[in-house]
This record gives sequence, structure tokens and C-alpha cells, in this order.
Amino acid sequence: MRIAMIGSGYVGLVSGACLADFGHQVVCVDKDAGKIAALGRGTIPIFEPGLDSLVAENVRRGNLSFTTDLAAAVGPADVVFIAVGTPSRRGDGHADLSYVYAAAREIAAAVDGFTVVVTKSTVPVGTGDEVERVIRETNPAADVAVVSNPEFLREGAAISDFKRPDRIVVGLEDERARPVMTEVYRPLYLNQAPLLFTGRRTSELTKYAANAFLAMKITFINEMADLCEKVGADVQEVARGIGLDNRIGSKFLHAGPGYGGSCFPKDTIALAKTAEDYSAPLRLIETTVAVNDHRKRAMARKIIAACGGEVRGKTVALLGLTFKPNTDDMREAPSLSIIQALQDAGARIRAYDPEGMDAAKGLTENVTFCGGPYEAAEGAEALVIVTEWELFRALDFERLKGAMKAPLLVDLRNIYRRDEVRQHGFDYLSIGRG
Ligand code: UDX
Repeated sequence: MRIAMIGSGYVGLVSGACLADFGHQVVCVDKDAGKIAALGRGTIPIFEPGLDSLVAENVRRGNLSFTTDLAAAVGPADVVFIAVGTPSRRGDGHADLSYVYAAAREIAAAVDGFTVVVTKSTVPVGTGDEVERVIRETNPAADVAVVSNPEFLREGAAISDFKRPDRIVVGLEDERARPVMTEVYRPLYLNQAPLLFTGRRTSELTKYAANAFLAMKITFINEMADLCEKVGADVQEVARGIGLDNRIGSKFLHAGPGYGGSCFPKDTIALAKTAEDYSAPLRLIETTVAVNDHRKRAMARKIIAACGGEVRGKTVALLGLTFKPNTDDMREAPSLSIIQALQDAGARIRAYDPEGMDAAKGLTENVTFCGGPYEAAEGAEALVIVTEWELFRALDFERLKGAMKAPLLVDLRNIYRRDEVRQHGFDYLSIGRG
């Protein structure tokens, strides 16, 4: 299959590289000439484990190329994926679809022969109808079938998620697209990944429903953690106790400082807005959004309380800034709210993150960025684990104690046990453990 991938951001690049690896001929397109030139030289603009070698290998095999020329990529393509950004629109929280529709117009003008146009970007229900309308309006002669095919990739594990998905959802209204999409995902199909064909609107909603459910699951266990702290119970054991029930499942029950990232915060808000527009409000999701926002700031209050109720003039060291490990993504990271709230309370912040500091520098002020966890701990009165990077799992507590002004560890990801930290003379506070 000849595939054009419009948008070479996170989703486009990962999907393009994986589809090329399946043996398809993939051309990734982007308006950003600098990005395309860098990709042509083998420089990957994002941090995603395994992506650089996957791209290099498929460029070498001749299956993957990059261009700014959308028409040249779309003309010969059997399938055109739209994988452009859908950020939150400023002001009202709805998804901003201007990039999607702009891509649809350009695709319309460039298609040649029957082409399946696939929306991979996360888009509100009904966007496929509008993409189809825009294409027909721009070029009434265009012979297209517009399909919805949401992605369920996790940052940091995107390649294995793409190659070993739990399911692939394809929403279509034109049956001619069915054999084409089956061919696109043939290697996965052979691996027995369920390929669910459904209506286009159902597919669009499925993506939001999945993300909203997961966000709700995390928020549930986070609130349960707060209750555990009050009643003297252990949230990790509660999570295990409920997670072993197959109807609940053990994943996404890890209590922490609240969810962040490019998907959950934006998609939950957009879904709640859609539901409101259709007069079918989703109260559980509205509450999830509110509880999660509140939680990020509550984490700063927890740290302040651990410091004796006052951090003015004190130094607090943060380990991990990205919204989760194995990414350099700082979008909606809990660390940002925590830093702001601690600074508002008068604290000085030192911080270390293995991949996120470049992005964090542009999003924070007056933070001292350090070269490692021990440098960050220098003179600190509290050390806070915000993101559970592997290298924070075996810290040298004696060395930390030597560097810090007071030995206090606030573990917002529950990666340590109280007894092992206390035996080094540290005060220790974690999430939802009595
Ligand atoms: C998510 C979805 O998992 C993916 O299917 C979708 O396509 C995009 O959004 P991602 O944003 O990469 O992927 O991150 P994910 O690993 O799902 O984590 C999201 C947030 O939830 C992180 O901030 C993480 O720390 C938090 N989280 C996750 C918890 O606090 N507890 C958990 O148990 C799981």
C-alpha cells in the first residue's frame, strides 16, 4: 500500500514508521520544513524509545521518506492518514480542528483516483462527516472514503502499542474502505489483534470514551488514596484487592499526583463539552476533570505540610518533571502546578529530570535545573519524587542525606517502602499509605 501521513508529530511519526515497518510505502508530510529536513538527516524531533532506529531502518530500506510537498505525497497514495494536532481551543475547551480541516482541503485538491482518507488525530464526534463535506466542497470530483481510525498509543511505549495493540477500531460509512483498511493492518490482523469495524461516529466516540474511562479510573484511585490516608489504610493494597477482580482489572490503579499529558486532560474536557452541547452531560467526567485539577495543587499543600507547614525561604528539590517517565513531554505535567504553588508559598526550587528539562525551562521561572538527583538534593529541606523514572528507584540515601539540609522524602509515586527509607534516618511521606 502507498500511504501518505499528513502531520509528522508524535502520532504521525510513530504510525508512519510502524506502517513502513509492516512493508507499506510511507511518505510523512509536514509543513515545518525544518522538521522535515532534520528527519531527512535522521534527527528525530521527539524522545520515544526505539523510534530513531525504526525510522533509520525504514528510510534505509526505502519504505519511509519525508516531504513538505503534500500534493506529491497524496497523489499516488491509496490511503491518506490525517495525523495533525487537535489542541484545546483557547477559551472554550473544544478541540481546535482548524489543522484537520486545512489538511482535508489540501488533500481534496491533490487526490488522484479512489483514496481512503483516515482521521487518526483525536477528533470530536461528527468530524469525519465534516471532513467528508469539506473534501467534496473543495473538489466535487474527489473519489474518497473518509474513515475514523483512532490511535491508542502511550507515549514511551508507542511502538509496542502500535505493533501489539489490544484492538484496532475502524469507523467507516463507505464499504469500499473495509478491504483497504484490512490490508493496511494485515500484519496485526495476522497477529490476531481484533480489528473492530464500526460506524464512523461510534469510532470517534470510542476514542474519547477510552481516554475518559482511564482518566476516571486513575482519579478514582487517587481519591481512594486520600481516604486511605485518613482512615489508616494502604491504597496499593486496596488497588491490588480490587484489581484482581477481572471486571475491574489491575491497570491504571496506581495512585499519584494526578494525570497529565497531551491526551487525558484535553480529551476529557473536549468530551465533556461535546456532551454538554448535546444536552447529555457526563457528570462523572466533569467531576474527574475538576478533581484532577484540584489534586495537582493539593500535592504542593502536602509537601508544604511535610515541611512543617512553611516553605518560605526553604529549598525543595523535585525529581522528575515530565508527566510520566520515558518521555520528554511536559504538557499538563503535575510538576508545573506543584512548582508554581511551592514558589507562590515562597520556596526555592531545584529540579532534575532525565529528558524533560529543556521543555521545562520554557514553562517555569526561577527553577535551578541540576545535573542529577544528588545535585538537586544539595541544601534541600525536602526531596520530592514527582515522576517515577527508573533511575530514581535505587537512590543512595546516605549520599542524599549528606547533601540535604533535612532528610525528608515525599514520594508522590509510591516507589519506595516506608521502612526502607526510614532506616536511613529519613522522614517519609507517600500517597495513600496510612
Ligand atoms: C494516554 C492513553 O493511555 C493512550 O491510550 C491514549 O492514546 C493517549 O493518552 P499517555 O498520555 O501517553 O497515553 O499516557 P499514560 O501512560 O496513559 O498516562 C497518562 C497519565 O496518567 C500520566 O500522567 C500518568 O502518570 C498517569 N497515571 C497513569 C497515573 O497516575 N496512574 C496510573 O495508574 C496510570
